[in-house]
Amino acid sequence: MTTHIPAAAVILAAGKGTRMKSQLPKVLHKVGGFPMIGHSVHHALGAGCAPIAVVTAPGMEDVAQAARAAGGDLDIAIQKEQLGTAHAVLAARAALGELEGHLLVLYGDTPLVTAETMSALLDALDDRPSNAVAVLGFTPDDPGAYGRLVLDDEGQLLRIVEAKDADEDERAIELCNSGVIALRGTVAWALLNQITNDNAKGEYYLTDVVALARAAGHQAVVIEADADEVLGVNSRGELAVAEAIFQYRARQKYMEAGVTLIDPDSVFFAADTVIEPDVLIEPNVFFGPGVSIKRGAHIKAFCHIEGASVGEDSVVGPFARLRPGAALGSDVKVGNFVEIKQSDVASGAKISHLSYIGDASIGRDANLGAGTITCNYDGYNKYRTVIGRDVFVGSNSALVAPITIGDGAMIAAGSTITHDITADALALARTRQEEKQQWAKDFRGRQKKK
Ligand code: UD1
Ligand code: CA
Repeated sequence: MTTHIPAAAVILAAGKGTRMKSQLPKVLHKVGGFPMIGHSVHHALGAGCAPIAVVTAPGMEDVAQAARAAGGDLDIAIQKEQLGTAHAVLAARAALGELEGHLLVLYGDTPLVTAETMSALLDALDDRPSNAVAVLGFTPDDPGAYGRLVLDDEGQLLRIVEAKDADEDERAIELCNSGVIALRGTVAWALLNQITNDNAKGEYYLTDVVALARAAGHQAVVIEADADEVLGVNSRGELAVAEAIFQYRARQKYMEAGVTLIDPDSVFFAADTVIEPDVLIEPNVFFGPGVSIKRGAHIKAFCHIEGASVGEDSVVGPFARLRPGAALGSDVKVGNFVEIKQSDVASGAKISHLSYIGDASIGRDANLGAGTITCNYDGYNKYRTVIGRDVFVGSNSALVAPITIGDGAMIAAGSTITHDITADALALARTRQEEKQQWAKDFRGRQKKK
């Protein structure tokens, strides 16, 4: 990054996104487990932008909240009526004030543009003092409704013409406007203020800034991006495409960082997933937000993991579910059909089969047998289960919380434990077995006679 004064960024998100056919504002639909608006904010922060303003329509407090959740000190600007992209940028003027650096315009529905690309576009403004506008262009398979980039004989950008306003020759142009535009800060507001709504849609087009800059004697340049990177999401279909591109990138990133994915295409990551090198991930694993996996861990097939951490060399699955607040230490074993939430599992502990562990803390090297259940909820409140180190819980035991099981205690299989157990004791809580000699044989005899 060679930009000396940080660029301000404005992220446009006031559009309704009607083609999503959703109650939810478009930019709140998720890619990689996080709302699209969060991706734009995250990447703008990564490019060093400050301040950052998010433009929303009135009543979109949820959009503002999602944007803030991505971090940074954001300004929220309200665009009262959606009169066009230039009008939307100007809605952020009061929030951004006089610009000390450049101005980067981003869309909240274009979540895959990277910080590197943003920086490259801003740097292009600095190539020549006369550059007032830098446009991120791309060549889509189908230029469709995108704005077309009209170049002069020297390959400099002359103007952008919207598809609806274009003549046949202009519509044949393949190089299109991604929507991402950088403006030289010293001239940005003055140029934007000259934009009118005299066009096919009756909107204030941000794209007109190029022709206005040229008319004022400035230059405009184009940087070309990959079509994948500038994908705009307008429909559920495009949302799925954005997700696929996000996942493809994520898989490449983790593999390059030393993670083994046996079948990369069947593993799904969130934007914040943290995985250390030498983790092995089998097919069909889903990571929701808030997951970290430490070195040497092995995630077997068909696991669903969110809001959870897995310590070094631990083994999880197959078919395990780690819910928010599950924190596994090192060398832990969590086997098939085990669900864990809001629980700390200390190093060396084993929960190998068919268990529900909620609101618990499990001590070092404890061994929870098949079918161990923490009964943590009475329909109104949640209660904690505390299991000491080296505890052995026999199979099919119900632990009725709140309850504390001392270090080294053992629980007989099939027990329903309702009282605390002292360290090193054996607890049995089930009816004693009775045996009636010959009863079964007599029973069968009676039945046959009937
Ligand atoms: C825009 C560009 C077009 C480009 C395309 C790329 C203009 C005039 N056209 O067209 O050249 O090829 O994006 O996808 O800029 N928004 C507001 N307030 C408004 C209008 C829009 O916040 O008053 C926001 C929308 O929520 C959206 C973004 O700006 O995030 C783009 O608006 P949209 O109407 O989708 O522009 P396009 O017609 O797609
Ligand atoms: Ca659009």
